[in-house]
Amino acid sequence: MNCMIFDKAADFLPDECFSKPPDLAIILGSGWGESLTSDRTLVNFSYSDIPGFGAATVVGHAGEFKLYERAGKRIAAFCGRRHWYEGVGWETVVLPVELARRMGCGKLLLTNASGGINPALRPGDLVILKDHINTVGINPLIGPHNPVWGPRFPDMSDVYTQHLRDVLHAVANRRGLRVMEGIYAFTAGPVFETPAEIRAYGRMGADVVGMSTVPEAVFAHACGMKVAGVALVSNLAAGISSKPLCHEEVLEATSVAKNLMAGLIDEFIARC
Ligand code: HPA
Repeated sequence: MNCMIFDKAADFLPDECFSKPPDLAIILGSGWGESLTSDRTLVNFSYSDIPGFGAATVVGHAGEFKLYERAGKRIAAFCGRRHWYEGVGWETVVLPVELARRMGCGKLLLTNASGGINPALRPGDLVILKDHINTVGINPLIGPHNPVWGPRFPDMSDVYTQHLRDVLHAVANRRGLRVMEGIYAFTAGPVFETPAEIRAYGRMGADVVGMSTVPEAVFAHACGMKVAGVALVSNLAAGISSKPLCHEEVLEATSVAKNLMAGLIDEFIARC
């Protein structure tokens, strides 16, 4: 990866960002952008102002970095993500994680909207990630080894930290949300899957499917960060749903679930 992109973004951000490690970094996926409640905003930039990010190109991704305080915690929030399918390389995809790492942050919450594969899932359900399947076969750590990002061959047997999963469960249960733990299949996108692919991923053990999250999770875990992931089921996956899939359906489902997602994140911040 081209570290100059990371250096430029870090140089651009004010010293305040690096003066004290954030307690938690959050990357918000499709439709999750309005889920933050702040007591005090410390730093706020549009992605298009930060070198290396470029504007978020996907509808539903706010494209905003915010350092703020909530419940006595310091939070580095990346509202909107860049994806592998945007064709802009891994640097922009993992830039939020790298910035959080340089700020000294040790904990990362990843959120996304996903298609439900497990027949028990309905749109609006939450899935706490317990593991993932990378169907793309490539990841951001391919390339020359940089020891600041962990060992050459990072262990991936425990990407999603048990303690943070427990906190997510406790919060979701207390709020009466429909929630289960599951395995996330990462696909390259931007095409939705075929019904045959979804049947295959289901047999492989996947519960939900989406086009994000895994690159950031792999990178953060290799770097030694504690990672949590939560998916909002925005639609039933291809072949399970009786209608063709579209991004509007994803946005509609996340919009309906807006308050639920905001409450979950807020209480997670207080308890994690
Ligand atoms: N497939 C892939 N990505 C998605 C889906 C889906 O069904 N829903 C939301 N993101």
